[in-house]
Amino acid sequence: MKVFDTIDAFQVWRRASGTDRIGFVPTMGALHIGHQSLIERSVTEADQTVLSIYVNPTQFDNPDDLKKYPDRLDQDLLLAKTCGVDAVLLPRYDEIYVDGFRYAVDERHFSKTLCGRHREGHFTGVLTVVMKLLNIVKPHWTYFGEKDYQQFELIQGMAHALFLDGEIVPCPTIREASGLAFSSRNVHLDEAGRQLAPRLYALLGSASSDAEVARQLTELGFAVDYVVTGEARRFAAARLGEGVNQVRLIDNIPLKQVAR
Ligand code: PAF
Repeated sequence: MKVFDTIDAFQVWRRASGTDRIGFVPTMGALHIGHQSLIERSVTEADQTVLSIYVNPTQFDNPDDLKKYPDRLDQDLLLAKTCGVDAVLLPRYDEIYVDGFRYAVDERHFSKTLCGRHREGHFTGVLTVVMKLLNIVKPHWTYFGEKDYQQFELIQGMAHALFLDGEIVPCPTIREASGLAFSSRNVHLDEAGRQLAPRLYALLGSASSDAEVARQLTELGFAVDYVVTGEARRFAAARLGEGVNQVRLIDNIPLKQVAR
C-alpha cells in the first residue's frame, strides 16, 4: 500500500495507473466498520482502491467539534492495508486549499435544509473538498455511506450538475447490534450517551409522527435539531451531552422501514 502525503506524488502514481478502474473512498479518518464496508465494496469492484484521509476544516461550523475530531492515523493505515487499499492520500490544508478557499461549490436549495439549516456552511465545505478530491483522484466509482444521506444526495447532484466523470455510489448504513449507526463521533459518547443513542434509530422507525418522535427524544434527554420526513425517508439529528462533550448524532431510514 502506497501512502502519499503530497498531491503531486499521488498524481504521479495516478497517471501511472493507466487504464485501471479506480474506486475511491473519501474519509476524515477514525475509520470504523462503516468505512470498512465502503473500502471492501471498492476493493471488490475496482482494480485499485484509493482512500483519502483529510479532516476538512471548511465543513466544521463549530471549532470545538473540529478540535476534538478523533485522530487515529496509525490504526487507520493498518485497517486500510488489511482491507486491501492500494493508495492512501493524506493532503495538507495549504495544498488542497491552494486558493485559500476563495473558490467554493455551493448548492442553493437542499443544502440549506436539514443539517445545513443547523450547520452554516457545512455542505459548501463538503462539496468543495469532495470536488477537489474527485478532480485529484479521478475515480470511476466513489463510495459514500447512506448514514449521511443528505451529503450523498448533494454530492450526486453536484456530479450531475457539473458533468463530473465517474459514478457516485450509495452504500447501506452499517449499524451496531443496538441499531446505532457507526460513526467516528460515537467514541465521544459517555456511558449514559451510549445507552440512550440507539433510541434515535428505534424512534425513527416508529409509527409516531415526526413531532411526536421529536417530543419523545427530548423527553429522553436528546437536544433535537430536527425530525423531518421527505425524499421518501425520515431524517433526524439530535445531540447528547453538554458543552464541549456534546455529541451530535444523525440518522435516516427509508419510509418503507417506518412502522404504520
Ligand atoms: O463524510 C465524510 O467523512 C466527509 O464529509 C467527506 C465526504 C470525507 C468530506 O470531507
